[in-house]
Amino acid sequence: MKTKNEDEEILSLIDKSRLPEHVAIIMDGNGRWAQSQGLPRIAGHQAGMKSVKRVIKTANGLGIKALTLYAFSTENWSRPQKEIKALMALLCKYLKIEVKSLNKQNVQMRFMGRIHQLPEFVQRELAKAIEETSKNSGLILNIALNYSGRADIVEAVSHLAKDIHAGKIQVDEINETVFQGYLSTSDLPEVDLLIRTSGEMRISNFLLWEIAYTELWITPVYWPEFNCKHFYQALADYQKRKRRFGGTVAL
Ligand code: IPE
Ligand code: IPE
Ligand code: MG
Repeated sequence: MKTKNEDEEILSLIDKSRLPEHVAIIMDGNGRWAQSQGLPRIAGHQAGMKSVKRVIKTANGLGIKALTLYAFSTENWSRPQKEIKALMALLCKYLKIEVKSLNKQNVQMRFMGRIHQLPEFVQRELAKAIEETSKNSGLILNIALNYSGRADIVEAVSHLAKDIHAGKIQVDEINETVFQGYLSTSDLPEVDLLIRTSGEMRISNFLLWEIAYTELWITPVYWPEFNCKHFYQALADYQKRKRRFGGTVAL
């Protein structure tokens, strides 16, 4: 059994002045967790919501600037209709209940992905959540919904091409900084740390451009079981990494 002291012990290893500014999480393993408990997949998604609340509270409490959570990919539409419907309903239920608490925590909500392709009742809840939390100055909670890293890059290219066509920008002005400005994450800090639960060693079309020099932390723990201790462990490990960005570090 995990004790509170165990959490505190790991927390004491974390240097609060060197936290990642932006943490992204691929919340994976809900279905397998449910299966391991003899429950239907949707019970795994429900249980995963508790981990979402935990991780938001912890990130906000530590003073992390931005947290991007991968909630639904463009490829997830290939799942059974029943599961998709349940996921959309769960998201709306979460927003209806949680926005009040997110406001209390001073969390600002954002969404990225092809939001306009989501059912209208979902879009309405998202708009409400954005509006109701827009003035908050704490953690930026960015939820990737109907998101695809490749699609985000293609949309950026398309938008950039339109701006060139309209004479707003010249072709020879394009550089990495300009291009980055067209991505959904343009106004967020660099993604310093990417966590994936459930042990899969892949990116699954999540942030592609953004993770060029991101530190990766993968745990076999299924998302519904991901708790503060795991999060602290990821942060403590992150702080042990030598980020060289292609250069060298003094030995
Ligand atoms: C992650 O858990 C949640 C979503 C992708 C919506 P999964 O549903 O992918 O769970 P596994 O990977 O099948 O165990
Ligand atoms: C990635 O998980 C997407 C989300 C967590 C929303 P998946 O379960 O969809 O990824 P794969 O299929 O294992 O690559
Ligand atoms: Mg999965």
